[in-house]
Amino acid sequence: VQIAAFSEKLNQTLHSLTYGENPVELYEPIRYMMQLGGKRIRPLLTLLAADLFDDQIDHVLQPAAAVEVFHNFTLMHDDIMDKAPLRRGRTTVHEKWNANTAILSGDVMLVKAYEMFLTVEPAKLPKVLQLFSKCAAEVCEGQQLDMNFEQAGQVSIDDYIRMITLKTAVLLGFALELGAILNNASAEDAENIKQFGINTGIAFQLRDDLLDVYGNQESFGKRVGGDIVAGKKTFLMLTALEQAEPNDLQNLQNWLQKTDEEEAKVKAVTELYQKLGIREKTEQHINTYFEKALTHLENVNAPAEKKNLLKGLALDLMSRES
Ligand code: IPE
Ligand code: IPE
Ligand code: MG
Ligand code: MG
Ligand code: MG
Repeated sequence: VQIAAFSEKLNQTLHSLTYGENPVELYEPIRYMMQLGGKRIRPLLTLLAADLFDDQIDHVLQPAAAVEVFHNFTLMHDDIMDKAPLRRGRTTVHEKWNANTAILSGDVMLVKAYEMFLTVEPAKLPKVLQLFSKCAAEVCEGQQLDMNFEQAGQVSIDDYIRMITLKTAVLLGFALELGAILNNASAEDAENIKQFGINTGIAFQLRDDLLDVYGNQESFGKRVGGDIVAGKKTFLMLTALEQAEPNDLQNLQNWLQKTDEEEAKVKAVTELYQKLGIREKTEQHINTYFEKALTHLENVNAPAEKKNLLKGLALDLMSRES
């Protein structure tokens, strides 16, 4: 009930945002992207984190929505970089318009996100902008590593975890820390809630990698097999590279080199994952990070029933299909 009420407030806030009119080619893609919705979990995390420390959450709505606008900016650019045709079940912005449009509309969204933070009370604004700027730079660092790893010969699981921590997890961490700071959490509580977010974020990206292979395209809303086609060094791929016997390994490496025969490549790699039990290994890894996340949540000084809302949400994300 509480979560539904928060989502409702959040949706109202997001619907009330305006993005400018001219040139229409600049602003229309932003409205298109934002109207596709998505799960909107990051701003919800901000509200739930704020609610842990104070019942007043209305002043958190704009900053929370700023996190969502920023997230949508990263998706618009990510889809160019990943050559993705589908997002939330619809044509991606760079395919519906073109790459230059997606670059520029994305840029304006980043600016918009910064502007939305101006509603934060003056005493807290420098701190919030400092944390947000750091987080935003880290997302870019993670995205560059993700690109580098497509070409790189040797990528370890540790490298991969560092990469997804940057591209995905720090934003969930920031979303939670933001809510905590805005409602005057202690430094220790803010740190623990952030760590809850980072570990949930790592598990979230592992689940995303899993769904990219095993998801249903209808519910997932993205092209299934896209990571395999692009030669992404996901947890699944790295584990397969690590555990394949010489024959299978050679075969896998041959497929990795190939850029044509997309369907055959997805099929062959998926069959090898099956043979090596990669799906189960990924699920175990997701659990490990989920457990880590919960330990940090337990250490937060806040009412148990409020923490349970965050726990429940994180649990839902671990089994998400979209
Ligand atoms: C997609 O994020 C990008 C990743 C970090 C995996 P979401 O899965 O939260 O995307 P939406 O906003 O719900 O569409
Ligand atoms: C998402 O990684 C990271 C960011 C958007 C910063 P992915 O490339 O796996 O995200 P999806 O699968 O396209 O949503
Ligand atoms: Mg992508
Ligand atoms: Mg990507
Ligand atoms: Mg993905």
